[in-house]
Amino acid sequence: MYAPTPPNPDAPPLRINLYSDTQTRPTRAMREAMLNAEVGDEQLGLDPTINALCARVARLLGKEAAIFLPSGAMCNSIAILTHCRPGDEIIAHESAHIIEAEGGAPWALAGARVHGLPGARGFFSADDLRASLRGASRYAAPQTLLEIEQTSNLGGGAVWPLATLQELAGIAHEAGMATHMDGARLMNAVVASGVAAADYAAPFDTVWIDFTKGLGAPLGAVLAGSAATIDQAWHWKQRLGGSLRQAGICAAGCLYALDHHVDRLAEDHANAKRLAEGLAGVAGIVIEPPDTNLVYADVATSGRTPGAWAESLRAQGIMVSVMGRTRLRLCTHLDVSAADIEETIAAFAAIN
Ligand SMILES: Cc1ncc(COP(=O)(O)O)c(C=O)c1O
Repeated sequence: MYAPTPPNPDAPPLRINLYSDTQTRPTRAMREAMLNAEVGDEQLGLDPTINALCARVARLLGKEAAIFLPSGAMCNSIAILTHCRPGDEIIAHESAHIIEAEGGAPWALAGARVHGLPGARGFFSADDLRASLRGASRYAAPQTLLEIEQTSNLGGGAVWPLATLQELAGIAHEAGMATHMDGARLMNAVVASGVAAADYAAPFDTVWIDFTKGLGAPLGAVLAGSAATIDQAWHWKQRLGGSLRQAGICAAGCLYALDHHVDRLAEDHANAKRLAEGLAGVAGIVIEPPDTNLVYADVATSGRTPGAWAESLRAQGIMVSVMGRTRLRLCTHLDVSAADIEETIAAFAAIN
């Protein structure tokens, strides 16, 4: 599904990078905050900036405790390791990042398989979840974890409605399962919907936010949950070699992002809407109207493959990602301006 466009040494300089919101570069002000960070030994719990970040994210998400990790993928893996035992089954959407893009980590690291449920926009229904529950059986894999992505990446950055999340998590808890939210873009959902992060997080036993997407930090994600779960997460962090030293320098970038880069996500969403409107006018392109900052364009009826579109755009200095056999994904973020959006729409129209 995730297929980065191979680097082309003959391509002109990259001017507009819509490949992913991970492409943001730390701003000068963020770098200055990092430069001035107080630091200590994170592994011993002595880094004051990491501690401040974890306390702040725990408060933001309404959880008892939180742990700093290098990446979102490590948050997912460590959460899964705390919730599951080898042989267990996780239920998630069939397009989930943990299935599509984490190198098979649930299977490889936790020995847990992931059962994917279908549904438009990365959503599945309470009925589908109920139907997938088998109950205790000596024959079947124990179903121990429900995992949900807010927003759903391959679902087009779609925002799960709060009531649906509450209902799904309620069903899972009733069945004795734990619940985990992949919040790579949770703050996009918060800004788009006006629902508080803690409200989205409340039905979930573990939840994390990523600082390397729209929030614009160079690395870092924070996983939150109960004090007991985060204690266990520390054990896995140490085991996997994820314990750090003077990492407050990175946490300072994340704290800066919380202060300065959350409200502005609304600009990315407005740019995504404008991009979607503009591309909808290009012959052969079918647009899924975006809730947030991810714009998916289906080019199946355009007579060109997504790869051919991506190459022609790259020849104009614009990078997008190819998603599967018929779709392109364009992500708006901190380093994409409203003028870049107009240029991108014009570049699409020029190819046609
Ligand atoms: C939905 C989702 N989950 C997890 C991740 C992994 O995050 P990271 O790149 O910080 O490991 C991503 C990254 O794109 C993502 O989109």
